[in-house]
Amino acid sequence: MRAILTIIGNIADTDTTVLIRGESGVGKDLVAQAIHTQSARRDGPFVQVNCAAIPPGLVESELFGHEKGAFTSAHRRQLGQFEYATKGTIYLDEIAELPLALQAKLLHVLQDFRFSRVGGHELIDVDARVIAATNRDLEHALTRGEFREDLYYRLNVVELRIPPLRERKEDIPLLVSGFLSRFNQQYGRQKQLSPETLARLTEYSWSGNVRELENIVRRMVVLTDGEQAFEALAAGRRNPHATGLRAAPIVTESLRETARRGAREAERAALLEVLERVQWNRAEAARVLDVSYKTLLNKIAECELTPP
Ligand SMILES: Nc1ncnc2c1ncn2[C@@H]1O[C@H](COP(=O)(O)OP(=O)(O)OP(=O)(O)O)[C@@H](O)[C@H]1O
Ligand SMILES: [Mg+2]
Repeated sequence: MRAILTIIGNIADTDTTVLIRGESGVGKDLVAQAIHTQSARRDGPFVQVNCAAIPPGLVESELFGHEKGAFTSAHRRQLGQFEYATKGTIYLDEIAELPLALQAKLLHVLQDFRFSRVGGHELIDVDARVIAATNRDLEHALTRGEFREDLYYRLNVVELRIPPLRERKEDIPLLVSGFLSRFNQQYGRQKQLSPETLARLTEYSWSGNVRELENIVRRMVVLTDGEQAFEALAAGRRNPHATGLRAAPIVTESLRETARRGAREAERAALLEVLERVQWNRAEAARVLDVSYKTLLNKIAECELTPP
């Protein structure tokens, strides 16, 4: 992380576009915020747009705004995120999910530093630093024609690659001690970890990266048998059914109904777990669960899940 902090220090004060790359949970959002707070724009807004969370048909209006009457439901003028980010930074998260048509528009905006609202003619100057992030393999997306090469080069002025946690295990003890003191304070505890636990945390592979580590340390602090939370996790990876605390079925229903209910509950739990893990990034969740975006939205509605 120190190497990355040095780069952040070097580039923060320039207005260059930055592309942040790395697996889910490595700390891309944190790095984007750090660039903003160390830049001359620190007193301006930091506007985060999750390109995967906006329905494709609404992305243009969300980014660039629209004029009254631009489309049927456009009852009044609406500013876009680029305008809200004036004098600050716009952070385009999950940039690989931007629809191709919008990639073309974004490219033009980044070249001319001007844009117009949907349904409007007035040219508006961009006064925002652009930071983009993705956990996708962009080069692969290029070869598949899913991401425009010219936009890739335009965004990639400075590329910051944040390595997965398993490739920087020396960060783990520092992160753990930081999280421990934060959560101890937050929950009024005095939890300490044994050297054995710390060693095991350091050796673990952390496919969910810092986010997963943070969650485990939080559980260790909050739960009285907290260290078992990690043991359960490590064991769960080997056998996902061994550790789940399942409510015993109430036998007042037919076997078929029990099976249905079990399936529904399992589906709901899986949905919730994945959505939390990907911070309600629905496109990502659909990928993880290997269902279409539409199916995922239906399931979310069916299970009556709502974002935190
Ligand atoms: N170096 C760090 N120090 C302290 N906390 C960190 C660090 N890196 C990441 N975190 C924490 O880990 C969690 C995940 O970080 P973040 O949201 O920045 O990941 P991300 O790379 O944007 O993930 P995603 O691709 O899923 O959006 C956050 O709660 C963040 O505060
Ligand atoms: Mg993120």
